[in-house]
Amino acid sequence: RTAQAVIVAIDGPSGTGKSSTSKAVAAKLGLSYLDTGAQYRAITWWMVSNDIDITDPSAIAAVAGKPEIVSGTDPAEPTITVDGTDVAGPIRTQEVTSKVSAVSAVPEVRARITELQRALAASAPAGIVVEGRDIGTTVLPDADLKIFLTASPEARAARRSGELKGADINATREALVKRDEADSSRKTSPLAKADDAVEVDTSDLTLEQVIECVVTLVEEKRAAA
Ligand code: DC
Repeated sequence: RTAQAVIVAIDGPSGTGKSSTSKAVAAKLGLSYLDTGAQYRAITWWMVSNDIDITDPSAIAAVAGKPEIVSGTDPAEPTITVDGTDVAGPIRTQEVTSKVSAVSAVPEVRARITELQRALAASAPAGIVVEGRDIGTTVLPDADLKIFLTASPEARAARRSGELKGADINATREALVKRDEADSSRKTSPLAKADDAVEVDTSDLTLEQVIECVVTLVEEKRAAA
């Protein structure tokens, strides 16, 4: 990494525009990009494909080290593979989405994925934007800039059902609130705002406004460094 390499942690619940924002900020600033939710989805996909009983944390823990998960960190074309298979599509199914909170709550799973995340951050040539739930608090506590994105449940559900064409908005909101509760209440590194994170409420902002806001914060950090 160069002397000016910058590490940006972007956390928050689903439907706040985290992925779109993070990808765009990384592309604009010439940084790498890592979607850590995709990694948790990928390991969940592997558990489901291998008939692991996901109601049993010890069964999950026993095989947490088995799948090889590789993330491509180019923001123009992020990729994710499990044992060499492209799983970008399969990790977005309802089934994986409904099971990912249970799998990602297992400490052995988090330890494994956290290790991958730190290695990618350390090797990114110009720096990296890492988005997730526990990046600023646990994975990269020394990040140069930490952002915590929030939005009202209504705004988040509206965005998600827009993504999942034709999905019922009330059902989407319920599923989303349930998943956030599970992610926020788990014992090992829950979804949380770091004390030194900048909170941005995106409810009434366009995606372009959120991107602009984060880019400005990164540039201010760089100028001050
Ligand atoms: O961002 P996403 O919706 O694709 O994330 C999927 C799930 O992965 C989310 O419900 C919780 C988990 N996750 C996590 O536990 N820690 C992270 N850093 C990122 C995601």
